[in-house]
Amino acid sequence: MTHTTTIPTSFIFRDDHLELLNQQKLPHRVEYLQLYSLKEFYDAIVTLKVRGAPAIGITAAYGLALSMNRYDTGCLAEFMGKFKEDKDYLFSSRPTAVNLGWALDSLQNAIERAQSVNEAKTILLHSAIHLHAEDEVTCRKIGEYGLQLLNDKSTIMTICNAGSIATSKYGTALAPFHLGSEQGKTFHVYACETRPVFQGSRLTTWELQQSGVNVTLIADSMAAHTIKEKNVEAVIVGADRIAANGDTANKIGTSMLAILCNHYDIPFYVAAPSSTFDITLPSGSSIPIEERAPEELTEINGHRIPPRDTLVYNPAFDVTPHELITGIITEKGILTPSYDESIRKVISQS
Ligand code: MRU
Repeated sequence: MTHTTTIPTSFIFRDDHLELLNQQKLPHRVEYLQLYSLKEFYDAIVTLKVRGAPAIGITAAYGLALSMNRYDTGCLAEFMGKFKEDKDYLFSSRPTAVNLGWALDSLQNAIERAQSVNEAKTILLHSAIHLHAEDEVTCRKIGEYGLQLLNDKSTIMTICNAGSIATSKYGTALAPFHLGSEQGKTFHVYACETRPVFQGSRLTTWELQQSGVNVTLIADSMAAHTIKEKNVEAVIVGADRIAANGDTANKIGTSMLAILCNHYDIPFYVAAPSSTFDITLPSGSSIPIEERAPEELTEINGHRIPPRDTLVYNPAFDVTPHELITGIITEKGILTPSYDESIRKVISQS
């Protein structure tokens, strides 16, 4: 029997602007922003109003296409110059998620065949809409493969939000839970709160509640105890960039979970679209790790926690070594070690 569930989404394209779910305000306010200018798109990405690797890429693609659509020139060379400038500006918004550069590059590849400014504008808008639609199909496939893997399990842990609102729909790590819920399967998900900005506490709990999945919040430091005491059977996480050897960058705290899975002998899965592979990097040590403002750690809702002048280190991501990853779930199937080989095979299919 299929159940009707409500899976939240982040984007509504409105011809001259993008309506974007403001993730900063969740869960207490469901507010959609109207984004028009390039600066508004850039700020939305930097301030995490939109976050999650695929969602960042889709937002940037719409931002670039919409801003170029308003650019008033008949000269194709001038148009391409401005395109490059705007693309570089958006590219500088966040460094770790490879999907941002991937989405912007796919717009650039698409307009290389344009013969006029008008044609380039149309191609850009169509390409952004296509990326958005394609990501939904991709995530649904990830969900189907993930559900096959998790079908005999019910108690799963995750970190951050690799969910529907971090993509076009369904998400990556959360996609199996949404699809399982539609099919009447009961999962019990333990969501790590995800310090410092609480993507797990604010977003994953809200999103899974919307779609009727049982979700229990824990602090990140409770993961080891919870895995042992609540018989967690697997951990599933998203990814921001996966190097050629399978080393995976994802939200800070992820590698700690992989180490715990190894200790407790339970599987650790990464779920990501194939656009998250970056085979130009041989290993995770070359993945750029974003460091964010100290206030994310020192303040909660504007209230300061540690003494003034406390030194702060605030890396937003960490890299999980490939040896700790049981499988990588993509839209093209489930990859297993050796990842050098299985990743190369998947990339060559594109
Ligand atoms: O800093 P964020 O919230 O953008 O970090 C997001 C993550 O780490 C996600 O797990 C990853 O981008 C995958 S989203 C499908």
